[in-house]
Amino acid sequence: MSDPLKTPISITRTETPHARPADNALSFGKVFTDHMFIMNYNADKGWHDPRVVPYGKLSLDPATSVLHYGQAIFDGLKAFRGADGKIRLFRAQRHAERLNKSCAALCIPTLDVDLVRRSFEAIVGVDNEWVPSAPGTSLYVRPTIIATDVALGVHPATNYIYFVICSPVGAYYKEGVKPVRILASDKYVRAVKGGLGEAKTAANYAASLSGQQEAEDKGYTQVLWLDGVERKYIDEVGTMNIWMLIGDEVVTPPLEGTILDGVTRNSVMTLLNDWGYTVSERRITIDEVMQAGHDGTLREMWGTGTAAVVSPVGELGYKDDKVFIGNGGTGALTQRLYDHITGIQYGREADTHGWTSVV
Ligand code: COI
Repeated sequence: MSDPLKTPISITRTETPHARPADNALSFGKVFTDHMFIMNYNADKGWHDPRVVPYGKLSLDPATSVLHYGQAIFDGLKAFRGADGKIRLFRAQRHAERLNKSCAALCIPTLDVDLVRRSFEAIVGVDNEWVPSAPGTSLYVRPTIIATDVALGVHPATNYIYFVICSPVGAYYKEGVKPVRILASDKYVRAVKGGLGEAKTAANYAASLSGQQEAEDKGYTQVLWLDGVERKYIDEVGTMNIWMLIGDEVVTPPLEGTILDGVTRNSVMTLLNDWGYTVSERRITIDEVMQAGHDGTLREMWGTGTAAVVSPVGELGYKDDKVFIGNGGTGALTQRLYDHITGIQYGREADTHGWTSVV
């Protein structure tokens, strides 16, 4: 098998480039750039033929295994255009490493991490004009792997496609960071230990739909997931990791197999440690949080993820109870984290941890 570090990535440019939408017309994940990265896997050649080609449809046999059994993983990272005009990928290495962890969880052959990084750089480099420049906008990069055996037997496939598509996206909240209302579900669960909860796989997002729907039906923005066994410990919120500032302690649930090892979670953890906060990765019950909400010690609550970066929680509902956090505004720590991380992403803030790479 060839050395992936030396594997050349071929580039075929489109002859029919599309008009790019105006930065102020961008939402999340609705338009895609002119090219995509693609690479194949089979048992003989391993991962091979990495290439950038014009964006286009995939042709799949109706019996393709991913369509039936969901052997699919993905990741998501962003490229930002700074005021200095430079394009920066945020934590490409960590995203590439996480992609491999998701592969392992789904019995998908892992990839060379450097080749994955190069795939991000190649597609963002070719489509660099698609990286928007208005404040809060970015290019969302979506690497995905699907099983492509044409067979209905239930077992890990021997053929796969890895592809990377890109979407110019707008600010997650048009009016800036805004507190959301969340509802803890005591009916639906997202993941259990020993399952797929820590993998970025299609199944977890399918499993989230009913709970999310229930929250929306009751007038909330996001669902707060409780553990799948006792339904009392907090796991995560919507598609994000969850954080609470209770008194002087910052609490976030530990990585025990049911929640995603978020890249933004890791960034927030690092910054809080830098800033001298006491951060506890510990199990915390919904009852403890509701109690802290009622007695006034729940000072701030926020979610973290690549899409929203940091998303403050202003209201938490559970059964017939609800608590309000921060009088409808964004907490000082939540705002500081948002400002600092986006500052690094757009090149305004010193990148002391080497999280960005210029494309
Ligand atoms: C994120 O918060 O970045 C996500 O995982 C959302 C994505 C699935 C759209």
